[in-house]
Amino acid sequence: MHERCYPFEPIPLPYGYDACEPYLSEETIKTHYEKHYKGYVSKLNECVEKNPVLRCMDIESLAKSGSEAVSFYAGGVLNHELYFSGLFPVTDKRRLSPEAAAFVEYSGGAAALTEKFLDMSRNFKGSGYIWAVCRCGKTEILCSEDQQHICGKVLFCCDLWEHAYYLDYRNDREKYVRAWARLAIPSISD
Ligand SMILES: [Fe+2]
Repeated sequence: MHERCYPFEPIPLPYGYDACEPYLSEETIKTHYEKHYKGYVSKLNECVEKNPVLRCMDIESLAKSGSEAVSFYAGGVLNHELYFSGLFPVTDKRRLSPEAAAFVEYSGGAAALTEKFLDMSRNFKGSGYIWAVCRCGKTEILCSEDQQHICGKVLFCCDLWEHAYYLDYRNDREKYVRAWARLAIPSISD
């Protein structure tokens, strides 16, 4: 894939703001994308602007750069892109990747996989993400804190920051994870 370097541009949302309703509202998607995601892009550009040595680095390298602010914002950009592209509204023609579909089947189906994400979310405190990620031929479900970026092929990505769900579900994280699964694991039937 083409390497992305400074100045960074936000990628387009692959669906309309209201496409994820009734699971995630238009207000939630719009705020999350326009304010939070684009905010990470702006903050990353500000950090790199102040530090010219970083300007030749691609965004993946910046996410692993070791500088707290730069890796935080670069991770925030990449993580949100994985999150948004991992939602599949019913009107969307995109489909799960073959690897993701195979992992759903391996996990015992969409409902069983949803329960695994729910279990992880119940045990996770604070802000971060739950991932299903394939590394060295093995897929595992794990959590990461804050905007830490995960290496490997991401199959599923659930944003557990309160900004992802507070407008719709207040502090009911479990209800949100169930709603997220309806969008991210689209073989769940209504
Ligand atoms: Fe987020």
